[in-house]
Amino acid sequence: IWLVPFSPTGSSRQVITAIAAAMTGIPIEECDLTYAAGVGRRRFGPDELVIIGVPVYAGRVAPLAVERLQTLQGDRTPAVIVATYGNRDFEDALVELRDIARQASFVPLAAGAFIGEHSFSGAETPIAAGRPDGPDLAIAEAFGARIGARLAALETLDAACCPDLPGNVPYREGPPPLPLTPALVEAACTKCGICLTVCPNEAITLQEKIAIDVERCIFCCACIKSCPEEALVIDAAPVRQVRQWLHEHCTARREPQLYL
Ligand SMILES: Cc1cc2nc3c(=O)[nH]c(=O)nc-3n(C[C@H](O)[C@H](O)[C@H](O)COP(=O)(O)O)c2cc1C
Ligand code: SF4
Ligand code: SF4
Repeated sequence: IWLVPFSPTGSSRQVITAIAAAMTGIPIEECDLTYAAGVGRRRFGPDELVIIGVPVYAGRVAPLAVERLQTLQGDRTPAVIVATYGNRDFEDALVELRDIARQASFVPLAAGAFIGEHSFSGAETPIAAGRPDGPDLAIAEAFGARIGARLAALETLDAACCPDLPGNVPYREGPPPLPLTPALVEAACTKCGICLTVCPNEAITLQEKIAIDVERCIFCCACIKSCPEEALVIDAAPVRQVRQWLHEHCTARREPQLYL
């Protein structure tokens, strides 16, 4: 089994790890697409299983995840595809992920949309805070067990019917991006360098002070969540409005949706 996460704030990784946990006795390796350097193999054979987990950005697969997934090559390799979203909606992300997987010769035989703490969630405006939580991960594990049983019962991969997934093809275009690049509160920054290590696109540099390359930033909020001094903030008025809207309107708990 290969885990293939792109997961700047960790929730997609948690979900696919729980799915794999149910398939006991099979060695698990990881091909991590989160960081530019990457790790792990890029080509997969027909006797392997890959479990891909990516976040939903604006109803689609996060664009940097798309770019990095396109470096993978399957060979009629069975795949489980998982999109993690912040309790608003996943819209066309699962169908897009299915199509990316198929183009690289993977066979998506199971899919899931799970909920993770929203990247814009904070202490004052929590949005799906703490998710995936215990019940989410129990659902993920049970899903993994069902997938394992399904795979064991399959005589040929051709018999694996790719499940119908919700979403539009062609995919809908998302809204124009907001000004989301974090700003530095210089007085609070201790120059510890932690934020540099979590940035998935090497957008942060530390010389005299922390600087963020607006062109490279994918707005994932990993640096904000990792900073022990709360020295990175996104506080532009349009972002505050979106955060407040999500906090007020995405309160009803959504549950994982599974397709097998
Ligand atoms: C730029 C951006 C756009 C997002 N768009 C959506 C969205 O359309 N719907 C949603 O429910 N969550 C959205 N989210 C929240 C993430 O999908 C969610 O936090 C996810 O759990 C992050 O996955 P990760 O922890 O694996 O990085 C967005 C987050 C970011 C940073
Ligand atoms: S993690 Fe925070 S305190 Fe540390 S260098 Fe980055 S911004 Fe500064
Ligand atoms: S600088 Fe941008 S891309 Fe890098 S961790 Fe921060 S929000 Fe994410």
